Amino acid sequence: MKAVTWHGKRDVRVDDVPDPKIEDANDAIIEVTSTNICGSDLHLYEVLGAFMNPGDILGHEPMGVVREVGPEITNLAVGDRVVIPFQISCGSCYMCDQELFTQCETTQVRDQGMGAALFGYSELYGAVPGGQAELLRVPQAHFTHIKVPEGPPDSRFVYLSDVLPTAWQAVAYADIPDGGSVTVLGLGPIGDMATRIASHLGYQVIAVDRVPERIARAQARGVQTVDLSEYGSDLADVIRDMTAGRGTDSVIDAVGMEAHGSPIAKIAQQVTGLLPDAVAKPMMKKAGVDRLDALYSAIDIVRRGGTISLIGVYGGMADPLPMLTLFDKQIQLRMGQANVKKWVDVIMPLLTDDDPLGVDSFATHTLALDEAPHAYDIFQNKKDGAVKIILKP
Ligand SMILES: NC(=O)c1ccc[n+]([C@@H]2O[C@H](COP(=O)([O-])OP(=O)(O)OC[C@H]3O[C@@H](n4cnc5c(N)ncnc54)[C@H](O)[C@@H]3O)[C@@H](O)[C@H]2O)c1
Ligand SMILES: [Zn+2]
Ligand SMILES: [Zn+2]
Repeated sequence: MKAVTWHGKRDVRVDDVPDPKIEDANDAIIEVTSTNICGSDLHLYEVLGAFMNPGDILGHEPMGVVREVGPEITNLAVGDRVVIPFQISCGSCYMCDQELFTQCETTQVRDQGMGAALFGYSELYGAVPGGQAELLRVPQAHFTHIKVPEGPPDSRFVYLSDVLPTAWQAVAYADIPDGGSVTVLGLGPIGDMATRIASHLGYQVIAVDRVPERIARAQARGVQTVDLSEYGSDLADVIRDMTAGRGTDSVIDAVGMEAHGSPIAKIAQQVTGLLPDAVAKPMMKKAGVDRLDALYSAIDIVRRGGTISLIGVYGGMADPLPMLTLFDKQIQLRMGQANVKKWVDVIMPLLTDDDPLGVDSFATHTLALDEAPHAYDIFQNKKDGAVKIILKP
């Protein structure tokens, strides 16, 4: 089959690789019909390369049709239409019983000290072949799937793999009071969808980015925006001015470790990226190498006693944090990978023909799988108006 594979920093290719096979009794094989590129893939493309091996298959946002099931699978049949969550979870362990599917004790990557295995996400997360491919082997398939109805186009459901539940969790963890306000930092797919969900739930939303077409997308849906390139270090003052001098009740950081405007940490990340993997890996795990600009903005913007919801991914192990301010402002901090299946039942009723969250037109590009190298380039460099890209195997 054809698959999108990692070969080095900013080097992804489409290779011919062996078809996946059923290896365990609760595996399934799906034929992928749509598979997205995510901001998380950009971290592998840029700063997390030390944990990747040439030839690793990327991708964790696929959907498709069941082609084969292992002997223990009784709730999936050949031909079923399914979306595959980005995390692999068993559905019945101590953590899954609490709907903490990203902490599944059956699939935790214990040799790396990490949570549940993820598709296509480096050896940190189990080195599981990913879903940017014609076929995908799904372990723990009895639970690691979301059945969706026939009829509507893939674009209606494909974001259930990541964007929709992740944005939903970002808003839920932000713990916005009734009628309250939230600042969303970053208007990539995750931040954009978080603004849509927060607006849908009736909160006041202020959205921040510096990429013109991303700001325009939020404005087109009636969201109040602040252009980072205009205000820079005055951002928090501007938002305080918009909120009776206090700051918003909550802030969602949908940026993560590769924020604009952190020159020193950027150099540290670049230097780490140049080191041999054997040296870079422990550095990435022990050193403070995140670019913390968005997190620092969040701490400044949130009102006293408010909540910050980190949904952008961080990976540094010794990041310097302003504990004095965090403590004095009595800030609540919540974070983590999204527990995808926890949120599906509340989202599904919104995936209807009247499309309140605008999923049908959410992708800016739908490209052939063969065009993946180009797709990664335009998504990373925010060229051609790329915000969300669906690849078609
Ligand atoms: N927690 C999860 O389960 C989960 C799931 C999916 C993605 N993510 C993470 O969410 C983050 C966003 O993903 P995405 O797909 O939307 O990616 P993206 O890279 O397209 O979006 C990031 C956006 O942040 C903007 N930005 C950069 N620095 C900023 C700053 N200082 N202030 C405000 N905006 C700034 C960029 O211009 C960009 O538009 C990534 O870190 C990704 O890894 C987390
Ligand atoms: Zn993703
Ligand atoms: Zn489990």
